[in-house]
Amino acid sequence: MEPRLQRRVQRYGWDKAAEFYDDSWKAQLKPAQDRLMEMIHIKPGESVLETACGTGLVTARIAEAVGPDGQVTATDLSQGMIDLAKENLKSTNGTIELLRMDAENLELKESSFDAAICALGLMYVPDPLKSLNEMHRVLKPGGRVGVAIWGERKNCGWAEIFPIVDQFVASEVCPMFFQLGSGNTLKTSMKISDFRDIEVVRFHHKLIFKNKEHAIMAAFSGGPVALAYRKFDDETREKAHREYLNSISEFRKGNGYEIPGEFVVGIGSKLN
Ligand SMILES: C[S@@+](CC[C@H](N)C(=O)[O-])C[C@H]1O[C@@H](n2cnc3c(N)ncnc32)[C@H](O)[C@@H]1O
Repeated sequence: MEPRLQRRVQRYGWDKAAEFYDDSWKAQLKPAQDRLMEMIHIKPGESVLETACGTGLVTARIAEAVGPDGQVTATDLSQGMIDLAKENLKSTNGTIELLRMDAENLELKESSFDAAICALGLMYVPDPLKSLNEMHRVLKPGGRVGVAIWGERKNCGWAEIFPIVDQFVASEVCPMFFQLGSGNTLKTSMKISDFRDIEVVRFHHKLIFKNKEHAIMAAFSGGPVALAYRKFDDETREKAHREYLNSISEFRKGNGYEIPGEFVVGIGSKLN
């Protein structure tokens, strides 16, 4: 897909997904966000950039870690996400600046942050290397980067959502999604972006959905296919739901689902 079109699908898709996001994904993504926060180890007083901040789930944790003497600049491509993050972070102490910004083109000064974080966002960016280069540029010498992404397609039981939705639209919704999570791709990309001391971990985690409606909401309304899904008529929606439930049927547990997932988390630093 042409990068400009992919960016538009993401931007306006996540605008639509924003209101469903926390109910769909907050609990499911927590283990990846926990591991990322442990590995990057944010300290009081630091100045931290977050790209693809979404509704602010990680932003709140960064703000808590930097404390009143620190500073957080959180950015996202979707205005809907930024608006919701502003609302969610209203009562958080500390200085948080929220800006609508493309992770591939950071309108921020070079060498200005102690750490740069992207949780579950880099798979949606048309050129992830460009985004990593941008994170590198805005970090101070010795600054740290931390990235969490989904792992390999074969280890993510919900992966059929993309081909199921793609058959009803003109172009692939997320063409690069699983590429970054395969093999050594994240580590190699971080190396190419000139990060040092790279450490990458990969781990499995089951995604729990309490019933089929919850699983459907997360897959279709609360994520990257939300723009395409909004345009489906009732019949297409029914067909897509049926196909998706069929694709995850082996993960059924009682009324709900326990779907296998895999996360990859990587950290690195800019040469001092
Ligand atoms: C799965 S959500 C992750 C949100 C948050 N980081 C979290 O961990 O909950 C993905 C986010 O990536 C954002 N995104 C997609 N493409 C982007 C881009 N090119 N630049 C910045 N943000 C982007 C979406 O708007 C969405 O908020």
